[in-house]
Amino acid sequence: MSYYSEISGGYDKLHGEEQARKAAIINDNIALVGRLLDIGAGTGATTKLFEKNCECVALEPSIEMVKKYSGLKVVGRAEELPFKDKCFDSVVSLTALHHANLERSFAEIKRVSRPDAAVAVSFFKRAKNFGFAQKLFAGFRAIDAKFDWIFLNK
Ligand SMILES: C[S@@+](CC[C@H](N)C(=O)[O-])C[C@H]1O[C@@H](n2cnc3c(N)ncnc32)[C@H](O)[C@@H]1O
Repeated sequence: MSYYSEISGGYDKLHGEEQARKAAIINDNIALVGRLLDIGAGTGATTKLFEKNCECVALEPSIEMVKKYSGLKVVGRAEELPFKDKCFDSVVSLTALHHANLERSFAEIKRVSRPDAAVAVSFFKRAKNFGFAQKLFAGFRAIDAKFDWIFLNK
């Protein structure tokens, strides 16, 4: 069982408030519309915060985590998104991509995004691949969110 599957019962209590703050920063700084993909959505507690203007899909490798989300959910990983090309208007990922192969995940985000899609990635500052993330997201706007940097493409 993965770490996140093991802590799924207490995850929201432990991290929910902090993650909700990051979701609020994203909602305040970029217009998310249409069909939205949340990569590494966990329990979907933050995915819910994007539901007002979007039809959301929660993508998450841990079944134990994602089964807590009441909306549309898919078990999968950032590196191999099980979706067609150019099928999302918005893509978000909060504190998840440091666990993934970043280059492959970045290519997958580009592949599934429509040409004018809004992309928002919150990336854990203390992760060992943070330096690489900064290079990869160099063309993005960056907002300091204390434990994460939030990268926005608009
Ligand atoms: C810190 S939690 C964040 C969960 C959620 N985004 C939130 O804001 O509450 C990190 C999540 O990334 C997921 N994860 C781990 N490896 C992943 C991968 N390769 N692709 C997508 N998600 C992954 C974990 O299962 C976990 O649910």
